[in-house]
Amino acid sequence: MDKKYKSIVVLTGAGISAESGLATFRSSNGLWNNHRVEDVATIEAFQRNPEFVHDFYNQMKPELLAAKPNPAHLALTKLQDNYPTPVSIITQNVDTLHEKAKSRNINHIHGQINQAVCLNCGHVLETWNDVTTETVCPQCSVAGMMKPNIVFFGENLLYMDKVERILASCDLFISVGTSGVVFPAAAFVQTAKLYGAETYEFNLEKTSNNFYFDHHIFGKAGETLPPFIDELLA
Ligand code: APR
Repeated sequence: MDKKYKSIVVLTGAGISAESGLATFRSSNGLWNNHRVEDVATIEAFQRNPEFVHDFYNQMKPELLAAKPNPAHLALTKLQDNYPTPVSIITQNVDTLHEKAKSRNINHIHGQINQAVCLNCGHVLETWNDVTTETVCPQCSVAGMMKPNIVFFGENLLYMDKVERILASCDLFISVGTSGVVFPAAAFVQTAKLYGAETYEFNLEKTSNNFYFDHHIFGKAGETLPPFIDELLA
């Protein structure tokens, strides 16, 4: 690959964190096999039973806090550290493995497990502790209005203004470990392609989005991404 790209966008999904031991959503023992999306990942569920929803995310925290980045995360940091032009990460993951890998320019479009947002004043509280219906907002001091800063189905994504901008200006789009079934993230490759980007998909298998990818690199991201990035940096 002798071409130098003017800007690179990497979209990551649960698959990049699989080799760190974290469950994906739609595999055989995926999160959505053991919980109904309607019970824990919609704004209606939160209004109906906030204690249950808070509990679901509170219970995920210890495992996500303990999880370690794997070679795929570290390869993205190596790319950001050594590539001459901007490399942006758009992640659907709510874990903080990109941060732990010392990546930067990370856009958590579906939110983050270690954040809660106050529905009264909009303050975002960073905490690995449990958040409950009793939690007091440190900014407006109102209790009981904190929501996990997880984007529920039916809610707007975060950072979409920046996402639109970087998708329109990138000439290399790399998708890693996402099934490409949840929109609008699943359409990001279409946007990138529309603006002329070269597109790569890293996954165990072809996804429903495979039409929009110029290249498919099959295998575990922890094994396939590092050599690919070494080639980009050569
Ligand atoms: N390396 C590469 N790809 C992998 C690996 C791996 N080691 N393990 C699994 N995968 C792939 C699977 O083949 C699958 O295509 O990762 C993908 C994971 O898909 P999902 O479980 O659907 O996760 P994701 O695409 O991130 O889900 C998107 O759905 O429920 C919402 O908000 C949630 O952010 C999530 C969104």
